[in-house]
Amino acid sequence: MQILTTIAGTRAASRLLRQNGPIAFVPTMGALHAGHLSLVAHARTLCPTVAASIFVNPLQFGPNEDFDRYPRTLARDAAMLEAAGVDLLFAPSVAELVPASSATTVDPGPLASLLDGAARPGHFRGVATIVTKLFHILQPEIACFGQKDAVQLAILRQLVRDLCLPTQIVACPIIRDPDGLALSSRNAYLTPAERETALALPRALALVQNSLANGTRLAALALAPAHAILTADANLALEYLVAVHPETLLTVTEITPGTLVAVAARVGKTRLIDNFLARNP
Ligand code: PAJ
Repeated sequence: MQILTTIAGTRAASRLLRQNGPIAFVPTMGALHAGHLSLVAHARTLCPTVAASIFVNPLQFGPNEDFDRYPRTLARDAAMLEAAGVDLLFAPSVAELVPASSATTVDPGPLASLLDGAARPGHFRGVATIVTKLFHILQPEIACFGQKDAVQLAILRQLVRDLCLPTQIVACPIIRDPDGLALSSRNAYLTPAERETALALPRALALVQNSLANGTRLAALALAPAHAILTADANLALEYLVAVHPETLLTVTEITPGTLVAVAARVGKTRLIDNFLARNP
């Protein structure tokens, strides 16, 4: 695996690698876990060459968010990516990818202020800006993203459509720990007691799935038992529990196949998200 830190070097390397065929790309912020590695594994089934990036993107963190304490474990991450079969790792510094002189940003429009964007103003502008830059540098045919970040996925699909980018976005399923908690680099912040509290998210989603399996499709009814357990614990601050269209992110009254059921909550200082896409009955 080549590890590159410069834009020029990465452009040159990806141009050479493209001679072997298309490139599938997995952008990350590092602190890798099995969720990230599942994206790499999926990418490997799609293209002969897999590129990954590790960049803790300052543009997507708010002033009071965890940019400074976000886990940075580059040596360990690089070893994991190499073992997973990544061919090229782009791991630039902030000065390289977002120099102090940079002024242009990519505004993803109204989707960026819904759901996670409502809680994190400017977050998705930061994501859209950095993903656009990464796509321009690596020019991948395919980029793999996790369904875990469903709002991010909707915004990146819109970005690719609106800016006519030649990269195809591929969504990959959420990887969970055996107790049901969706893997996240931020789970490292949770104390054992907080982790127990956090399990309310997957449990709440399982309740919604039960309601759907029992034929309750009206969103208000299907979400009610989940809402009850998410508001029962004083250590958990529910941000949203919604049933929305997966692309427009607009609320639906009836949950149909493909509807996105998503939850966000804070446990202590940690913000957690989870979701599922409703399946055919
Ligand atoms: P990061 O949080 O590191 O996530 C990188 C990718 O891993 C994203 O596509 C995310 O959806 C996916 N992922 C995270 N947890 C997952 C899980 N449990 N199962 C499956 N996939 C999972 O998302 C970002 O970084 C950044 O916003 C980025 C796109 C890199 C732009 O800076």
